Amino acid sequence: MNQIVVDRYKTANETLRVPDLRQALYDEGAIMFEKTIVNLHGEEHRVRRNVEIKVFRRDFFKWYEKAVFPYTLRETIAPYLAQGRADLVNLGFRVMMNLTADFSGVDRPTRTPEETDRLLRHLLTFGKAATLGQALGNKEAIREEIRKAMAEFDTEFFQPSMKRRRELLGKFAKGELREEDLPRDILVELLRSEADLPLTTDVLMKEIGFFLLAGAFTSIHTLSHAMHELFWWGESHPEDKRRQRTDPLFLQRSIHESMRLHPSSPTAGRRPTCPMQIPGGPQATPDDYVSIDLMKANRDTDVFGADAAEYNPHRQVQKGTPPYGLSFGIGMHSCLGLNLAAGALPKADTDPAEHQLGTVTLIAQALLANNARPDLDNPGVVDRSTIRNNWGKYPILLG
Ligand code: HEM
Repeated sequence: MNQIVVDRYKTANETLRVPDLRQALYDEGAIMFEKTIVNLHGEEHRVRRNVEIKVFRRDFFKWYEKAVFPYTLRETIAPYLAQGRADLVNLGFRVMMNLTADFSGVDRPTRTPEETDRLLRHLLTFGKAATLGQALGNKEAIREEIRKAMAEFDTEFFQPSMKRRRELLGKFAKGELREEDLPRDILVELLRSEADLPLTTDVLMKEIGFFLLAGAFTSIHTLSHAMHELFWWGESHPEDKRRQRTDPLFLQRSIHESMRLHPSSPTAGRRPTCPMQIPGGPQATPDDYVSIDLMKANRDTDVFGADAAEYNPHRQVQKGTPPYGLSFGIGMHSCLGLNLAAGALPKADTDPAEHQLGTVTLIAQALLANNARPDLDNPGVVDRSTIRNNWGKYPILLG
């Protein structure tokens, strides 16, 4: 087996669009990911994606940003505001987990901090499946831990959530409930499509677990990187510091620049389904592993300029290149949550009051409005246990 590395923006972009390359990043994490959308290929993948994409209908994002998000954000942030301090990573976990649970279809009947803690613990364990390939030590022990977390998640959260949705769908079928009274989430869509797309309960549970993970983990680390960049850039650029607080489109742009520099998954992984030519690279066979280095591609000086490795919220990108580069992937597995997390890209005549900013910008906006600043007596610590260089903790002061 050869490992083929693709690390230029153009060839990475082309490679991710090749239909004969299948997902391979999660092979080691099969215990959790095997039959989830991110691991499917070809027709099976297309059918699943078409069902799930229905949740993100045209009016979804506006409804979500106006009706769901502010409530969950206020509720989660309130205890930190009362204390005047927070660990940004911990706060991010709580906000994003609650939000992701909403659109995945995981009910939290009591909405107590203890319940959130239990769900969070399961989620942290599910996260280990994503990095099982790089794990040191006893992998079987980690697998056992993941199995236990899945079983507990299934009993406490998934089964009751599924039961409630089946009852609602039963009433809807009898005309006792209107469409708009159904929850707008992935689990509802999957259950309603059962006739065309039958899935076992085990696969359904893992799919919802994957959505929790895909939605929450990525956004949390993106948030802490972005806040760090906002803080230090603001220190040396006072006018921009003011704009971060008063100009939502500038804030969103600043966050997209951080997303480019810090893709939550630094690499994508694929395997050929047949002998083929890798764009700009060698011939490859199904035994080979193709690693697409998103971090390097996003710092390609041909595309992002001579200072591509540095943070610059005023960066101008070429037409057709998204400001966040390949951080949300491209091609068949491109991120379903892109609009949710990053918002829409503004046009010249965009009205900031109507614009969809994305959850990461909205959380940053709420934190800056509450005078969020680094706690200089307790500097943030980078988690060196993975190659992702995410913040392990990032203490901030509020108010
Ligand atoms: C800052 C936040 C996020 C980042 C950086 C991110 C990044 C990515 C990337 C790079 C991929 C492609 C993986 C590949 O090509 O192998 C992906 C796929 C995916 N993401 Fe996201 N994501 C984010 C947020 C979300 C959210 C909020 C959701 C929930 C709706 C989500 C759901 C998904 C799903 C379902 C896929 C798999 C799509 C498929 O296989 O067809 N992501 N994401």
